[in-house]
Amino acid sequence: MKTILTGVRPTGNLHLGHYFGALTNWVKLQNEYNSYFEIADVQALTDNFDNPSKVRKNVREVAIDLLSVGIDPNKATIFVQSMIPEIAELTIYYSNMVTVSRLFRNPTVKAEAAQKKELFGNEGESITYGFLGYPVSQAADITVFGGDLVPVGEDQLPLIEQTREIVRKFNNIYGETLKEPEHLLSASPRIKGLDGNEKMGKSLGNAIYLNDSEEVIGKKIMGAVTDPNKIKKDDPANPDVCMVYYYHKLVSDDLDTICSDCKKGCRGCVNCKKELINNMNAFLKDIKEKRKYYEEHPDEVDKILIEGTNRAKAKAEETMKIVRNNMQLDYFDK
Ligand code: TRP
Repeated sequence: MKTILTGVRPTGNLHLGHYFGALTNWVKLQNEYNSYFEIADVQALTDNFDNPSKVRKNVREVAIDLLSVGIDPNKATIFVQSMIPEIAELTIYYSNMVTVSRLFRNPTVKAEAAQKKELFGNEGESITYGFLGYPVSQAADITVFGGDLVPVGEDQLPLIEQTREIVRKFNNIYGETLKEPEHLLSASPRIKGLDGNEKMGKSLGNAIYLNDSEEVIGKKIMGAVTDPNKIKKDDPANPDVCMVYYYHKLVSDDLDTICSDCKKGCRGCVNCKKELINNMNAFLKDIKEKRKYYEEHPDEVDKILIEGTNRAKAKAEETMKIVRNNMQLDYFDK
């Protein structure tokens, strides 16, 4: 059975973008692969090193999100990155396999660095060694568990390519040691935000979270962007530019009626939004029920994380034994 590894940064609760873009896929994949799902707290700290309590809190929040959508701890291994020092060790050895200029050329790093520049001004001043090096650490995440495939979205592809380069260089120098992973591009689309932005994102303030209350969901959907050319309630409109219809497509039945009524002008936006609110709440009901269960059983969540982390650590230890051997760092082994 092949191994997959993927990760999520614990910087906030997960939203519909994560759900439709990644999580539904992960839930399926756990039946077909030996699956590792990493809660990447070390990587989250590269951006949030000054806010450790945020990261700490969100490790459990994200764990509950994963469990609530159907990641099954009996099938998959959910683990906490920082609790596996072998990843940090491999990161150090990998850091010799990549030049600083190559890291600066990584498109994902480049885009994030540009964002930082916008926020903080001078680029060099705001970029830490840890941030620049997170692709190296991500390469260690993947390969220390012998990941064959990495389920990711488009934005992560440069990181997988970087991993492959690092592994090739490592194997060239120290002998065939680690596996070159491949990406498994998610077929699911990127989900747009309530404001019509191409991306639903925490920092964009346009997301519906899996744990949003019915009240919050109501308010958010009431504020969603509709066809700007529709002024009066019974103006005909174009559902293809309406975010309410966009979300109907994700959670509602009878789309043909919704679509044609909208086009004919016999569907007011307020009613259409109310219908969506009901459907969205119905859609999230199961997920929220599971969340409630885990919130009421924090010891069970901890147990799942501890068991997953122990399993993952055993695999990482195995890999690092070979790595150290091949790097001639096994001084005291008999
Ligand atoms: N960089 C990923 C993100 O921001 C999270 C991540 C951490 C990851 N380690 C990983 C993804 C390993 C795939 C494989 O979403």
